[in-house]
Amino acid sequence: MINFSNSQVLGIIGSPRQSGNTEILVDEVLSGAEGAGAIVKKVILNKLKINPCQACNSCYKTGKCMHDDDMLELLKKMEECDIWVLGTPIYWWGPTAQFKLFLDRWYCPKHQDFKGKRVILVIPFEGGHPKYARHTVGILTDVLDYLNMELIDTILAPGVGSRGAVREKKNIMKKAFEVGQKAIKMSGTT
Ligand SMILES: Cc1cc2nc3c(=O)[nH]c(=O)nc-3n(C[C@H](O)[C@H](O)[C@H](O)COP(=O)(O)O)c2cc1C
Repeated sequence: MINFSNSQVLGIIGSPRQSGNTEILVDEVLSGAEGAGAIVKKVILNKLKINPCQACNSCYKTGKCMHDDDMLELLKKMEECDIWVLGTPIYWWGPTAQFKLFLDRWYCPKHQDFKGKRVILVIPFEGGHPKYARHTVGILTDVLDYLNMELIDTILAPGVGSRGAVREKKNIMKKAFEVGQKAIKMSGTT
């Protein structure tokens, strides 16, 4: 029997809405991964203190960010985990402010170390067509590409506005679970 228990998966929730559509979907991906033997962890960006990048280039000069905040601990978790499940709802065609603050802090050159990390994107939104997610998908796929990271899959959930509405989208819930499961089963890192 193959042992998949070495893979670590980190879910990162970019929505401020607790038990909202993003969290429900990320949890579903994590359940699939955990069922396949992974160790899973979850962070909610809205509960962390993450300051905005000041473009001071301190990280380029000293290798250290000028901010001493929760991003330091989060970066350690990110480094430990092979697979990240990055979830953000669409706010005005883009990711949430919480998610963008987090993303801007990937600027430090040390984050070239993200190379080879594997990512699942989770993006719920109220509009009924995938086009409403195109800018957010564009930003995130370009960033992953730029940092030589691997996109495993993207879970889009159009047509979900109210808290928990995604539970009614059985196909999307199923896909989320299966993507988490497959990411571990197909993982060469285990
Ligand atoms: C400030 C704000 C802006 C939003 N902008 C968009 C938008 O541009 N397009 C869209 O389809 N939905 C938009 N929505 C709806 C959310 O994407 C949707 O309710 C989503 O399911 C929220 O996910 P959550 O439950 O994880 O917070 C917006 C919601 C808020 C609060």
